[in-house]
Amino acid sequence: MVNRASAAVPIEGGRFMVIGGASLVGSATTEELLARGAAEVRLFDNFSFGSGDAIAHLKDDPRVTVVQGDILRLHQLLAATEGLDGVIHLAAFMTLSMDRDPWGGLDVNIRGVQNVLEACRASKVKKLIFSSSNAVYGYGPGVKGDLVEETPFFSVGAPPAAILYGASKIVGEQLCRDAYRRHGQDYVVVRYSTVYGERQHYRAANALYIVETHDAIKRGERPKVIGDGSETKHFVYVGDLARANCLALAAAATDVAVNTSGPAPVTTLELVKLVAELSGRPDLEPLLVEPDPGKVRLTSGGAFRIDHSAAKAAIGWEPQVDMREGLRRLLFWRDRNTV
Ligand SMILES: NC(=O)c1ccc[n+]([C@@H]2O[C@H](COP(=O)([O-])OP(=O)(O)OC[C@H]3O[C@@H](n4cnc5c(N)ncnc54)[C@H](O)[C@@H]3O)[C@@H](O)[C@H]2O)c1
Repeated sequence: MVNRASAAVPIEGGRFMVIGGASLVGSATTEELLARGAAEVRLFDNFSFGSGDAIAHLKDDPRVTVVQGDILRLHQLLAATEGLDGVIHLAAFMTLSMDRDPWGGLDVNIRGVQNVLEACRASKVKKLIFSSSNAVYGYGPGVKGDLVEETPFFSVGAPPAAILYGASKIVGEQLCRDAYRRHGQDYVVVRYSTVYGERQHYRAANALYIVETHDAIKRGERPKVIGDGSETKHFVYVGDLARANCLALAAAATDVAVNTSGPAPVTTLELVKLVAELSGRPDLEPLLVEPDPGKVRLTSGGAFRIDHSAAKAAIGWEPQVDMREGLRRLLFWRDRNTV
């Protein structure tokens, strides 16, 4: 890791773009940038997955502009990055979308990252924050114990789409390192664990447990748990990630990758019971079911925990919101925003 004073990009008074901004993480990150005094935030998105709904609450702020564009079109990125201090790059296909369209996903997650880096270089953007994922550690029985930034990728037994997704994030990270080495492009890779929070969508395989449990409970049905419920998941609240993205910009750190995970992992059974309790139906006992062979499932072999201590050291970040509080906020939002 190289620490240089020049790699710190203050948020207050700064000009930023969130690529893939019409998203779960993008909308929360934009709120955080605005709250920290950013002078301008551009939201760049092709709206292939994201929607105007996710950013409707931001559009009235005069500092926010929405740019409809595609990261596979370099000229659009070149025009959109002019005059910026920092870019937060979120646009990506995740596992479920990768399963439907592998080539589309590889294009966006690899070629798209390279285009973003080229545009940042041409527009002299001081710092790039690249949203990576704990998918870089893989899935399946090899993923166990404490996962630290040096933990290698484990792919044996995982579904192809999950491997393609994790591998594409590894390539994206390496393209950032390459740009730093060749051109001195400052960057921080933030490896999110499974995200949940307000404006939760159905695109992330692990977070489906939360939204599907809540949907089942609203229909008066018992929520389902796949397998025996002992599988580990490690979530992080979206507001904590928004803070991580801002701290990564403002920190002196560069050329580094850090994990950002919530305070503690949960098992799927604990999670489903907690959602049932917070939805006011603790009486609806989870139903243990066999996995559906037609669906992509992300399974962990043993108990694991994603260590986030490197994020504290590099960018001064720690999670603040535990699962009970984060779920309470998510369910409160869903009850007011879904029919
Ligand atoms: N959600 C999670 O659980 C999770 C976990 C780990 C990492 N991540 C990463 O965090 C980032 C954001 O996740 P999210 O859940 O907010 O995602 P999301 O699906 O809500 O957002 C991705 C956004 O990128 C946009 N996009 C896709 N292709 C594009 C293109 N070619 N040009 C321009 N925009 C394009 C989509 O329209 C969408 O608004 C992604 O990079 C994802 O890989 C997410």
